[in-house]
Amino acid sequence: MTQAPQVDAATLTGELKWWQHGIIYQIYPRSYQDSNGDGVGDLPGITARLPYIASLGVEAVWLSPIFKSPMRDFGYDVADYCDIDPLFGTLEQFDTLVAEAHRLGMKIMLDYVPNHSSSDHAWFQEAISSTDNPKRDWYVWQNPAPDGGPPNNWKSFFAGPAWTLDAASGQYYLHQFLPSQPDLNWRNPDVRAAMFDVLRFWMRRGVDGFRVDVIWLLAEDERYLDEPENPHWQPGQPDHWRLEHPYTQDQPETHEYIREMRRVLDEFDDRMMVGEIYLPLERLLPYSGTPDAQMVHLPFNFHLILLPWTANEVRAFADSYDAASTLAGAWPNWVLGNHDQHRFKSRVGAAQYRVAQTLLLTLRGTPTVYYGDELGMENVAIPFEQMVDPAGLQQPDVPSASRDPERTPMQWEAGPNAGFAPAGVTPWLPLAPDADTVNVQAQQDDPHSDLNYFRALTKLRRDYPVLLGGDYRSLDTDHSDVFAFERTQGGQRLTVLLNFGAETRDLSGISGQTVLSSLNDLPDSTSALRPNEARIILN
Ligand code: GLC
Repeated sequence: MTQAPQVDAATLTGELKWWQHGIIYQIYPRSYQDSNGDGVGDLPGITARLPYIASLGVEAVWLSPIFKSPMRDFGYDVADYCDIDPLFGTLEQFDTLVAEAHRLGMKIMLDYVPNHSSSDHAWFQEAISSTDNPKRDWYVWQNPAPDGGPPNNWKSFFAGPAWTLDAASGQYYLHQFLPSQPDLNWRNPDVRAAMFDVLRFWMRRGVDGFRVDVIWLLAEDERYLDEPENPHWQPGQPDHWRLEHPYTQDQPETHEYIREMRRVLDEFDDRMMVGEIYLPLERLLPYSGTPDAQMVHLPFNFHLILLPWTANEVRAFADSYDAASTLAGAWPNWVLGNHDQHRFKSRVGAAQYRVAQTLLLTLRGTPTVYYGDELGMENVAIPFEQMVDPAGLQQPDVPSASRDPERTPMQWEAGPNAGFAPAGVTPWLPLAPDADTVNVQAQQDDPHSDLNYFRALTKLRRDYPVLLGGDYRSLDTDHSDVFAFERTQGGQRLTVLLNFGAETRDLSGISGQTVLSSLNDLPDSTSALRPNEARIILN
């Protein structure tokens, strides 16, 4: 089908690190595989599915939090950073998972949640026990405003004030999320030391990298001034958007703490961290740091999620991001979905699903793939009575606030619970209504399935290393609904043609050998691009 690659893969990938040439596959552990019949996924379940994950051609598996937690935010509220929650398993089972992943040639990344702990954490329990407890300053406390209310107008991401009163002391503590997720005080060096030891603990256990939760929120401005109103806020949008956030986000101190964090990672060989950061490009790229003062290896680029899905907008962003990354000496990365964002197939529409998947896996930079997106899993409508996500429950008037729709169980096979949990068990979130037809088993042997299209894309990345390290350049076409670009390196060139529209588009002047089409055939490279087609040409 495809002609032999002209350049040896090792030659081209040799200079790239694993987190540059590899694909990161995100698992939401509650929803991957339930091995003990409690309706919630667990570590032995994931271990059992590692051969499947390896068959996808991904490099690393990122697990959303698996640490001890009261689960009020489903694990993003950590009560012990150095232990596994019994719901997910044990440290021994985690060691087995890591060993098995490594045996299969994959890396394991954990979700590190440094901005806040659970209020159940022993540190917070001590902090709240008295104002002179040594741990008091490990969290962020302020006296009430003169009227006795919260110290200022700061808001929680999950709606309402970012301050909760501790009646015993009369002081308020800060929480950018739930009241049960108090913000750690990163200004305190003891907090930093303790949190850096957490990283060392897991790296010593063999963990290869970390996704760092809300890393751009670590520090707040110490003047505790009110944040300004956002003039663009509209009813139906999240409460948190009512304000702009000059004092609670992206502070200079945060950059300092991340540089310190990076030095801890660099105590170990070949580890990496990717930071969760929702910021515009010019404030995002600085999170890579500079050669002398490095920060995160990858600052998550969420712009494919946030942009309108049009060829022009995506091209314009890809051009400026690629150029700015090169200028900043930063390695690019791309994301279409995660556990906080609605499924991308639902967002771009079924017709555009493969166009988006092709884009993700052929642009220059590390792709992150959310579990189930390789099958074309879609949002699952969850009625309010069945909703469990606090972000949704606290904002009933914001229709898109709940993240349950994108967190439903993995669809393995037709039949009870789609193979996610044993028959007769009620999963923690309902299965998708299409689980009987959209599942791994049904797609496994169908050469034209979404799953095998995904595998064809990852195979292309192996066969044509120009897709990993090659330069990116977008191409002009006569059509505003076509995004075309080429990747070139060492005499090898692949051209990617993406039809964002439903019209047939003639693209004279592009010729070569078609190596993949999203429409399951290999049309002549000079033939017109069909509606919603993604095509890759070797030339
Ligand atoms: C991050 C996580 C999200 C969580 C929040 C609080 O945004 O991705 O799921 O609710 O942080 O930890």
